[in-house]
Amino acid sequence: MKGVILAGGTGSRLAPVTNIINKHLLPVGPYPMIYWSIIKLRDAGIKDILIIVNKKHLSSFIELLGEGEDLNVTLKYKLQQYEGKGIADALMAAKNFIKNEKFVVLLGDNLFEDSLTPYINSFQKQEKGAKVLLKKVKDPRQYGVPTLDKNSKKIMAIIEKPDKPPSPYCVTGIYFYDQEVFNYIKNITASNRNELEITDVNNMYIQSNQLQYDLLEGWWIDAGTHASLYQANQEIYNNMNMENAK
Ligand code: DAU
Repeated sequence: MKGVILAGGTGSRLAPVTNIINKHLLPVGPYPMIYWSIIKLRDAGIKDILIIVNKKHLSSFIELLGEGEDLNVTLKYKLQQYEGKGIADALMAAKNFIKNEKFVVLLGDNLFEDSLTPYINSFQKQEKGAKVLLKKVKDPRQYGVPTLDKNSKKIMAIIEKPDKPPSPYCVTGIYFYDQEVFNYIKNITASNRNELEITDVNNMYIQSNQLQYDLLEGWWIDAGTHASLYQANQEIYNNMNMENAK
């Protein structure tokens, strides 16, 4: 299986430092944020990885990571054509890299404790469709939030950043897709915030009865704000064995 890490976007909630540095290159523990996504994929056996970036930051990523030799992975890069046009727009850039396989997508600002291995194994057994990982959070309003049917154990719908969350869960930025995802992306239109939303794509999987989910067990943080970036640093320093992390 291949992996895709999305590291574009504007990082506006972490301004002013993100006016000059890509969010995913900011430090979390002893490493730039992007290392943690790469390590999670690698440790689950995924070494063929595509990183999607904006043109203005590509050279920094190449200077830092090269072709991945230091981390024992094979890295390729692809540009997101329209900076900040949305997660689904960024993902579209992975089409040629993926071809006809199932694959894993990580939002590069998501830091988490769980190993990806059990989720990858269960997705391998899933004949087709997609899988998302959910996490219970204190305030779901800033995320994609699922409505769950407890009897069927299915997600009925996902709402992006709802004022009144239908559940205490957030859809994390850890996604598993088959190649249908690229057809779905072609069929969505920009949201009110003028982005192609990954939530719209996931809702299309729901309509086709093809979206499975699992619950993350360990801590999970979207490090997209100053407060959550600080919290991610705390979790990494508290929980990781720094000597052996890399
Ligand atoms: O973290 C989980 C949440 O991530 C989900 O619950 C939401 O459903 C999902 O929409 C997303 O929400 P955010 O508002 O936090 O997304 P953000 O704009 O911060 O982007 C998340 C990652 O995706 C970030 O690491 C950069 C990448 N990205 C984002 C955009 C908008 C791109 O590569 N290109 C983009 O155009």
